[in-house]
Amino acid sequence: MTADNQKKGASRRAFLKGAVAAGGAVAGAGMTRAAEPDPLITEVQEWASGLGEGVDATPYGMPIRFEDDVIRRNVEWLTADTISSINFTPIHALDGTITPQGCAFERHHSGAIELRKEDYRLMINGMVDKPMIFTYADLERFPRENHVYFCECAANTGMEWAGAQLNGAQFTHGMIHNMEYSGVPLRTLLTEAGMETTGDLSDKWIYVEGADASSNGRSIPMEKALDDVLVAFKANGEALRKEHGYPVRLVVPGWEGNMWVKWLRRIEVLDGPVESREETSKYTDTLANGISRKWTWEMDAKSVVTSPSPQSPITHGPGPLVITGLAWSGHGKITRVDVSTDGGKNWQQARLAAEGQSKALSRFYLEIDWDGSEMLLQSRAHDETGYVQPTKDELREIRGENSIYHNNCIQTWWVKENGEAENVEVS
Ligand code: MTE
Ligand code: CO
Repeated sequence: MTADNQKKGASRRAFLKGAVAAGGAVAGAGMTRAAEPDPLITEVQEWASGLGEGVDATPYGMPIRFEDDVIRRNVEWLTADTISSINFTPIHALDGTITPQGCAFERHHSGAIELRKEDYRLMINGMVDKPMIFTYADLERFPRENHVYFCECAANTGMEWAGAQLNGAQFTHGMIHNMEYSGVPLRTLLTEAGMETTGDLSDKWIYVEGADASSNGRSIPMEKALDDVLVAFKANGEALRKEHGYPVRLVVPGWEGNMWVKWLRRIEVLDGPVESREETSKYTDTLANGISRKWTWEMDAKSVVTSPSPQSPITHGPGPLVITGLAWSGHGKITRVDVSTDGGKNWQQARLAAEGQSKALSRFYLEIDWDGSEMLLQSRAHDETGYVQPTKDELREIRGENSIYHNNCIQTWWVKENGEAENVEVS
């Protein structure tokens, strides 16, 4: 904790104690007053006067109807249709780090397909001694691992290069989800197929394809394939949802979402990359001089304040305010997040809810005593490599403005005196 934070913590404790000393009459500016009898406390309520629903009412539960605005949303003008399209995770309304599958963003190049486990096959071919075809039941017989990882589309924040455009963390940063995956290390399956996993593998690659019409084929260097890539069939404890690749998807920790091939159908071992559509005309970044960067696999450290934000305004007056957000890095653990309320002039160290986990989302909080004045709210992530999230100007200087992908710049929300927030840029 910084000295500044400690001071804030101390003043907040004194403040809450003061409220108790006043007989609980005033719990603080803007908080509920207990001076008048509150019927929600003093009266027997309707929900306590009868019976609730039985356990047979909901064999598989959905969120309560009062939460029906916590949903994926898309941006209508972004894609020509909803088949080859994208929607966004409502990160402004979630807390903690795990994304429920039901509201985790989706990106399909040719729609989400329905593939039964019985019809599922995974082929490993190419430069292996024993080309193999695995059924779903075969995959279940290999030793499994569990890991939490974020998956971020390379196009996340891609609409913000030229200027502040979309009004909400869901739209600017919602092409991300974070789940606990259960699956078999790809290394195990490659070994089963007789692939030699030692020695110089620097010229070896795999090419991965999905069973959907787009196939979304991508080349992955062998070093990564043998490192932490998972062939996953469960997410957050349950089967993958159709839209996330049921029954089997590839998990490529820390690397751009496009490589996380869904409905995984074929892995070919090769002595070079395929240079497929998805890694040449797409998922490359054209720089200011017209030359494109390719093989930009890793997702650099990034963060965003999820609340307050345009879709999650402050709904109370001055006094205690919880600022919270998410941070992540494709290079490892998040070690620190700073928050600025004045557009990056001054920074305070935020509190990480838990120690950073490699290639997974971290949740941060900064509790402040808000004086009710406007703020230019920003967050800045640091990862274990020492990398610090850049400002938008710093990023543009290197990358120009032709890019779509890999925009990991610092985001600014202009929080007004009335608590509403807007997407803005500061320079
Ligand atoms: N895999 C297949 N087979 N088809 C696809 O269209 N889209 C890719 C990747 N894997 C895609 C795919 C892209 S661009 C991203 S960002 C992630 O899947 C999104 O995963 P999600 O839909 O589970 O969020
Ligand atoms: Co993507």
